[in-house]
Amino acid sequence: MEVAGIGVGPEPVIIRFMSTHVHPIFARVYRALSVATADQIAPHRQELLAGLSGRVMEVGCGNGLNFEHYPESVDEIVAIEPEPYLRGLAEEHAEVGGGRITIVDAEAEMLPAEDDSFDAVVCSLVLCSIADPAAALAEIRRVLRPGGELRYYEHVLGDGRLGSVQNRIDWLWPRMGGGCHCNRDTLAAIKEAGFEVEKSREMSLDIGRVRTPVSPHILGQAVSP
Ligand SMILES: C[S@@+](CC[C@H](N)C(=O)[O-])C[C@H]1O[C@@H](n2cnc3c(N)ncnc32)[C@H](O)[C@@H]1O
Repeated sequence: MEVAGIGVGPEPVIIRFMSTHVHPIFARVYRALSVATADQIAPHRQELLAGLSGRVMEVGCGNGLNFEHYPESVDEIVAIEPEPYLRGLAEEHAEVGGGRITIVDAEAEMLPAEDDSFDAVVCSLVLCSIADPAAALAEIRRVLRPGGELRYYEHVLGDGRLGSVQNRIDWLWPRMGGGCHCNRDTLAAIKEAGFEVEKSREMSLDIGRVRTPVSPHILGQAVSP
């Protein structure tokens, strides 16, 4: 049974809305925005995933816009997504992976995987939204085999005036953006979690020439020792 696009099974709909991961309005806005910017962001997604192989976990896959960019050398992708509307879209889109992609309802702070069981973990535009990024990064280290890679593409805290604007509006931003924080120093968090950063670059993703609170981005890879 479906009510306004939201599945109603044994779990009452009111309980689903109370879940911290159910964001029906944000999920629909994110879908529209991510599709509208897909061509602009596609080269970054490709760079993020280039050269990966073996078993990969993707954390918070949203509607699955990374899926078509996984190289053939990846054997299996376990993509977790706790938001039900986005998870449904990811399930529909998973066919582009040619049977390699499994979508799982789970959250980053408690990954459904054994220790040392993945060759790589992918985080794109997600460490901004996870309630406890330190716990998530500890979980990512747990499921990565020694020498496994964290690949990241994230919007982050910027410098100077933009950084102070981001800090000032971060009480409001998460309320509008499904829990997304615009002022996280994600590179520092990755290092604090014990990862060794191999390469990382900064970029600005602007709208036309206008910098926004989610313009500063980092893209890189780090190893779990
Ligand atoms: C801005 S969207 C990005 C989606 C996708 N990764 C992409 O690159 O387009 C942020 C995603 O993080 C997910 N998310 C939020 N909290 C999470 C958590 N604790 N664990 C896993 N995913 C989470 C949201 O449901 C949403 O799909």
